[in-house]
Amino acid sequence: MFPPHPTDLLHTILLGEIHEGDLAIDATAGNGHDTLFLAREVGETGAVIAFDIQAAAIEATRNRLESEKFIERVTLFQKSHCELSTHADHGSVKVIVFNLGYLPGADRNIATTAPDTLEALAASTRLLTPGGILAVICYPGHPEGAEESKAVESFFHSLPNHRIARYSLVATKGSAPFLLLARNGRKLSAEKLP
Ligand SMILES: C[S@@+](CC[C@H](N)C(=O)[O-])C[C@H]1O[C@@H](n2cnc3c(N)ncnc32)[C@H](O)[C@@H]1O
Repeated sequence: MFPPHPTDLLHTILLGEIHEGDLAIDATAGNGHDTLFLAREVGETGAVIAFDIQAAAIEATRNRLESEKFIERVTLFQKSHCELSTHADHGSVKVIVFNLGYLPGADRNIATTAPDTLEALAASTRLLTPGGILAVICYPGHPEGAEESKAVESFFHSLPNHRIARYSLVATKGSAPFLLLARNGRKLSAEKLP
């Protein structure tokens, strides 16, 4: 698609950033498109951890990974991304992706929320490797999404020692989805401080 949706743009950007052996996290597995992309890029010696609160999302992601033969590289958790820091060490994760909102084709009332997303984002910044990347795709086109998107954008602006970027489509009506990126500029020694 041209211009690319923020999700496609994110995948293109990450192609040059993820390497064989990396650890990546998909904080919102959904139908598994992002998990599959990450699993491909981390290679045979890498690993992906993926979270979603919905059984249907975990099943859809598992099916996609199995049919593409990438399931061995991925650990799936049916739990909130608020718990992601219990599954990876500080300074160990190269890329963490959040694709916010609801599961396409499912109940739109089961969606990411600003409080949980902010909690998980704060934890994510501690997990990133030096040079690691935090990526969030925001959907401000509906009222809850607008509030969440605003909160996430403020969070990104408040991040010290990170390079931040924002990419967006231009909406012909309503508000267009956008991509936020942050690269961790902290050194490993700083990560180890209490
Ligand atoms: C837009 S979809 C993700 C799309 C997905 N990355 C893909 O490639 O298909 C958003 C997902 O976030 C999930 N979600 C909502 N709250 C969550 C939470 N607290 N922790 C983890 N996942 C959550 C929803 O169940 C939904 O499946």
